[in-house]
Amino acid sequence: MNDVLSLHDLRKTYNAGKPNEVRVLQGVDLTVGAGEIVALVAPSGAGKSTLLHIAGLLDTPDTGTVSIAGTDMTRLSDRKRTGVRRSQVGFIYQFHHLLPEFSALENIVLPQLANGVSEKAAHTRAMALLDRVGIADRAAHRPAALSGGEQQRVAFCRALANEPALLLADEPTGNLDPDTSNRVFETLIGLVRDTGLAAVIATHNLELAARMDRQVRLTAGVLVPL
Ligand SMILES: Nc1ncnc2c1ncn2[C@@H]1O[C@H](COP(=O)(O)OP(=O)(O)OP(=O)(O)O)[C@@H](O)[C@H]1O
Ligand SMILES: [Mg+2]
Repeated sequence: MNDVLSLHDLRKTYNAGKPNEVRVLQGVDLTVGAGEIVALVAPSGAGKSTLLHIAGLLDTPDTGTVSIAGTDMTRLSDRKRTGVRRSQVGFIYQFHHLLPEFSALENIVLPQLANGVSEKAAHTRAMALLDRVGIADRAAHRPAALSGGEQQRVAFCRALANEPALLLADEPTGNLDPDTSNRVFETLIGLVRDTGLAAVIATHNLELAARMDRQVRLTAGVLVPL
């Protein structure tokens, strides 16, 4: 019962029954334990974002179950699910989705306030995280005044702000040049290793995937070992 994330027979079809029907997930099974980093590899359009959004409680499957820390999320009320999402799941989006009108620091403080953390404690943790990823001196900058790599580092800090048990990252370095991508990826792996959380990181970069503990490929709607 040490699985942090357990997905069972997930199925998802967009536009079911219509001519433009897309069967994206056709029976996905996956378990990830604490301290384990799994690479999710698949070409564009295969369903990586769909799968991560469902695992991260941002979307619901047609059928199948998502369990986080042993609790079946499909049986919870919306309110309870939102609570689990806030406190247990860190999500790094394919495009960073930082709030443009807030500073880097505020982007990391806000999710903590939503989770009931005091302003002082949230601020201290946000600064520590920014320091950990090497951009404490950029704390007051808005996202538009940060480089792509810096924005992604802020997104990592935001995802980890509430000390989640599970981290889901959707091509976290996909929009960066190869050198920056490599460095930013190292930072992310270091952060995950520090905290011992369970992580699923989508990438289409096989070199990055090889640096994770285990690799799975999403193909024809199911996961197979790489
Ligand atoms: N809301 C939606 N309605 C209809 N079809 C969708 C929707 N979202 C995604 N799709 C389709 O589902 C398939 C999987 O999309 P998804 O975004 O999960 O792929 P992906 O592997 O993340 O791709 P990429 O690497 O380009 O980000 C694609 O064919 C896409 O067009
Ligand atoms: Mg995607």
